[in-house]
Amino acid sequence: MNDTPKIPGSQRRVPKPEGLNPPVGSPAAGDPPAPNHSETNPVGPRLNVDDWERAARSRLSDMAYGYYVSGSDDEITLRENRSAFSRMFLRYRVLRDVSRRDLGTTVLGHELPFPLMVAPSAFHQLATPEGEVATAGAASEHGTIMILSTLSNRAVEDVVAASQHPVWFQLYIYKDREITGALVDRVVAAGCKAIVLTVDAPKLGRRERDMRTGFHLPEGIRMENFLPDDYRSLPQEQGESGLASYAADLLDPSIQWSDLEWLVQRAPVPVLVKGIVHPDDAVLALKHGAKGIVVSNHGGRQLDTSIPSIQALSEVRRAVSGHSCQDGSLPVVLMDGGVRRGTDILKAVALGADAVLVGRPILWGLAVEGREGASKVLSLLHQEFDLAMALAGCRCLDEVTEDLLAFEKPAHKV
Ligand SMILES: Cc1cc2nc3c(=O)[nH]c(=O)nc-3n(C[C@H](O)[C@H](O)[C@H](O)COP(=O)(O)O)c2cc1C
Repeated sequence: MNDTPKIPGSQRRVPKPEGLNPPVGSPAAGDPPAPNHSETNPVGPRLNVDDWERAARSRLSDMAYGYYVSGSDDEITLRENRSAFSRMFLRYRVLRDVSRRDLGTTVLGHELPFPLMVAPSAFHQLATPEGEVATAGAASEHGTIMILSTLSNRAVEDVVAASQHPVWFQLYIYKDREITGALVDRVVAAGCKAIVLTVDAPKLGRRERDMRTGFHLPEGIRMENFLPDDYRSLPQEQGESGLASYAADLLDPSIQWSDLEWLVQRAPVPVLVKGIVHPDDAVLALKHGAKGIVVSNHGGRQLDTSIPSIQALSEVRRAVSGHSCQDGSLPVVLMDGGVRRGTDILKAVALGADAVLVGRPILWGLAVEGREGASKVLSLLHQEFDLAMALAGCRCLDEVTEDLLAFEKPAHKV
């Protein structure tokens, strides 16, 4: 069995003699803190991300919960993002002295204590009054990167100020390129260290839950990164999703590869492309100037029945392996969609992800306990990943190799 690193140019670190970097609040260096299980919710202690979701559901309005939880159409991709992980099994290694583990990695020069970042998601003030400032605080406590959505309720300057660690900005391209360009200039001036261009939403997926609730932003909640008023609020109509109307009116369905080049020229920070599932698109993104790819189907919220992200990841990683970015650097490969357990992170790393992003789990934490809740969810995932590493016989990420994975055989081949 091959024990050597498999990913060319991986920036993963070898184990340090002192063991892993403890997350904030760790009672003793060397082990991640135990989540506080004494707190309870209507359905029991919050031992895992699903418990946090149940607690969040009981605190959110039907409209907010429906917006956060929903996928598009029949929500097949939403479910498959999760179940694809459960069709993968771990061929763990033994007798490797796992008493010391280093979970750290480096993404675009920034050291992460474990390979997880915060995915961009819209409207955090539906979960907590502090909104994205709370999220940035939680991400910062854990030394990780938060990707701030274009559709954030708090201004980018306030969010960057709340973090000691890099904040990246997720961009949607608007029909009005002046507005888009001004937004890029603003977030760069605010200190965002990278821009993540979302490319899987030329139109908004059909989210029936939002149509049923007539999704809109409650009084006093706006999108604070825009100046013109018609860009700051969502329309409100019975039986319609306000976000769908907003996107149809303002976002540009004509975006193409030349727009990525425009952005790369305009932004003095690295640009990554989010929403890639086809290996050829991954290679095209690098050719047009991207520094990295986020393998993602938008958490099952865009094209329903699209391939689960974890399934797309291995094809994309293989496709980009022989390619470098325009400046000769190695591309960053991130993935998101359905990551809820430490073993999910392990599987994504084994398939070549430099790190995963989590979307909804952070929203559940925010909804239950604001910044503190998001921080507890991050601790939980950190601790689960650390345990998964130890039980799989891995002391550092270079040892998390594809041979650890076994796949369920399709029924017709058995
Ligand atoms: C409520 C919600 C809002 C989102 N908003 C955005 C957004 O504004 N921009 C974007 O690129 N992706 C957005 N996403 C997609 C996430 O970035 C991410 O791809 C997805 O949530 C990952 O799946 P997970 O929720 O299963 O972890 C959103 C996802 C959710 C659940």
